[in-house]
This record gives sequence, structure tokens and C-alpha cells, in this order.
Amino acid sequence: MTGALRGVVALDGPSGTGKTTVARKLAGRLSARYLDTGAMYRVVTLAALRAGVDLADEHAVGALAHDVDFSLGTDPDRPDVRLAGEDVAAEIRGPEVTGAVSPVSAVPQVREVLVARQRRMIADAVEDDGGIVVEGRDIGTTVAPDAPLKIYLTASAEVRAARRNTQDSAAGRASSVESARESVERRDRIDSTRAASPLRAAGDAVQVDTSELTIDQVIVALAELARGRGLLGDCPAAPAAAEAGVSR
Ligand code: DC
Repeated sequence: MTGALRGVVALDGPSGTGKTTVARKLAGRLSARYLDTGAMYRVVTLAALRAGVDLADEHAVGALAHDVDFSLGTDPDRPDVRLAGEDVAAEIRGPEVTGAVSPVSAVPQVREVLVARQRRMIADAVEDDGGIVVEGRDIGTTVAPDAPLKIYLTASAEVRAARRNTQDSAAGRASSVESARESVERRDRIDSTRAASPLRAAGDAVQVDTSELTIDQVIVALAELARGRGLLGDCPAAPAAAEAGVSR
């Protein structure tokens, strides 16, 4: 049996590493809140596309991020995403938003607005000994640098492309392994080379290669790491597990 999480688990890594599924399920298993920061960048991107804002105009995109009216739920069983009250959870995962989100997320003003909001949501969640699993690209480095457990998920490009292709096909979107690989690599390139908070592992993050692991194996490994750090409320601290693929 696992206890309830106290504090912040920062979960970073490139797309296709299983981050979203792992973060949600881990939060559910540890009775914690869940924050999908990528959904915030996606909802701002959708708002910009709908408003016809030129995505190359950083000033206009930044101004829009200030004003956009969106909400994001932190219940891992029902992570609602609303734009001006409309449920946009499916639309923000579609190809239009996915194709446009990396440049939007590279705009410093967009990051400033969203990081401030993420920090407020994290502070609310951990008030009164609560816990939250936060996933993104810069959680351990920028958003929550004091998080007591930072994880950096990785997986080979082949595995990530195959996973993305399976997800897209399951959602009824046209896809092939080649196009998924191009999309994954393009986003990695933009995300890791941008000037503002580029994608990178925090120096004190635990790296977990998920290429050969099932989602459940990853979750068990992460829950053990949380237990090892003494973050699980009703469980005594124990040495962190030396799980397959887990290195420090
Ligand atoms: O995790 P995701 O695929 O939903 O993220 C969408 C995009 O948002 C991705 O290209 C990188 C960006 N992102 C970011 O820059 N910082 C975060 N904390 C989360 C996502």
C-alpha cells in the first residue's frame, strides 16, 4: 500500500516518454493533485490560433497570454481544461495545436505568465501538507527548483515516436511512425534550444529511462523514490529502490 504524497514531485522530460500518463496515474495512486503544465502552453496556443494572432509576433503572443481566460483542473481523475468556459481538453491535443505549441512556449512573456500561475497552483496544493505531481519541461529547473523529488524521464527516439504514433492513431488522427518521429524531434529541438528555460534535466534529478519499462513499472519506481525521500505521509522513509532503468 502507498501513502499520500506530501510536497512536490517534479516530472520533466521530452515528449513521448510517458510523462503525462505516468504523472496522472502516480498522482492518483498517491492521493495527490496533478498539474499538466504542457496543457497551459497548449491552451494559450489554441487561444492564439483562434484569435488569428501571428505566432511569430512575440509581443502579440505575450499580450494574449496575459489576457487569456482559461482554467485547468488538478484532479488526476478529471483534469479539466477550459478556454473561456469551453471544454478544450481534446482540441489542445490535436495536430494544429501540437504543431504550433513549441514556438509559443518559447516566448519569454508567455513563460513568465504561466510559470507564475503554476507556482500559485503548486503553493495551493501543498498547503496543509498536500502533495502534487507536476509535469513539464522546466519544473525541476525553474518552476519548482526546491521540489524534494525531481524526475527526468527519457526514452529512445524510436520508442517515443512509436508511442506518439499509437496515441495519435488511437485518437483517430492521421499518423505514421515517420511523421511522429519528425514531430517529436522537431519539438525536442525547439524545446531544448530555446533561450528561456530550455528543456534540460536539473542537476539533482533522478533520470529514468522508460524505453524498456511499462507505465506500471515506471509508477512503481517513482512511488518507491517518493517513499525513499520520506514523502509518503503514512509510510516510514526507506532507502530508494534500485529499479531497472533508474540512475542518479
Ligand atoms: O507536454 P506537452 O507535449 O503537452 O507540452 C506541449 C509543449 O509545451 C511542448 O512543446 C513544450 C512546452 N512546454 C514547456 O515549454 N514547458 C513546460 N513546462 C511544459 C510544456
